[in-house]
Amino acid sequence: MIELSNVHKSFGSKQILRGVDLNVARGESLVIIGGSGTGKSVTLKCVLGLIMPDQGVIKVDGEDVTQTGDRDAFLAKFGMLFQGGALFDSIPVWQNVAFRLLRGTLKRPRSEAREIAIEKLRRVGLSPDVADQLPAELSGGMQKRVGLARAIAADPEIIFFDEPTTGLDPIMAGVINDLIREIVVEMGATAMTITHDMTSVRAISDTVAMLHGGKIRWSGPVTEMDSGEDPYLQQFITGSADGPIETLR
Ligand SMILES: Nc1ncnc2c1ncn2[C@@H]1O[C@H](COP(=O)(O)OP(=O)(O)OP(=O)(O)O)[C@@H](O)[C@H]1O
Ligand SMILES: [Mg+2]
Repeated sequence: MIELSNVHKSFGSKQILRGVDLNVARGESLVIIGGSGTGKSVTLKCVLGLIMPDQGVIKVDGEDVTQTGDRDAFLAKFGMLFQGGALFDSIPVWQNVAFRLLRGTLKRPRSEAREIAIEKLRRVGLSPDVADQLPAELSGGMQKRVGLARAIAADPEIIFFDEPTTGLDPIMAGVINDLIREIVVEMGATAMTITHDMTSVRAISDTVAMLHGGKIRWSGPVTEMDSGEDPYLQQFITGSADGPIETLR
């Protein structure tokens, strides 16, 4: 469903991606792990076409993302939870969640869009009371969940979650992990998730890929992660200060 081959991306003189190869099968849940600043978010943004790679090819469902004729139709396949939430601060929560259902190719009648928004809010553990509030009136964890509700609002085929559990309490993180797993299983969606939370990795992934030094350092089924012999992988999953990963950035 998603194929990256030899993807390179630099910003000025900073080389971030130096030949990323990655494949995600339809209905698979892939989790990307790796240190802060290694280019995980940049990788997701390249797949969405929000950032253009300098080199390499990215295909979604066989289609080259840099060559898509109809961007609206291409983007309609995706749901995305941005790392920073990226909610629109001047419109109420329900209109954030239903944003794509209120305009463009996925447009629905307003009352139906509102109902869907309230149902998606419920799925992420938020009561209908929040629907008419503004994002600024919510806590950080609640905003995160609104972002998640927006990502799943239009029942996308492909979902990207950038740090879905960061800033949530352990119980709510568990709820969100279960929800992500459910979305993949029930909706048959293909998911790419970025997380630092190893509990989350174990709860939601079929496969794991570790980004380091601009490349995929290790990838494989989550069941093989603990026995993976790569020292970078082991240092990361055990959270050890000692190992080959440079901690000064
Ligand atoms: N639009 C941009 N312009 C310039 N530099 C950028 C841009 N986006 C990202 N970068 C740089 O690319 C590097 C990788 O950023 P990215 O956001 O992908 O990191 P990350 O792996 O997601 O880290 P974290 O775990 O902290 O979220 C960083 O050094 C960042 O400063
Ligand atoms: Mg990031």
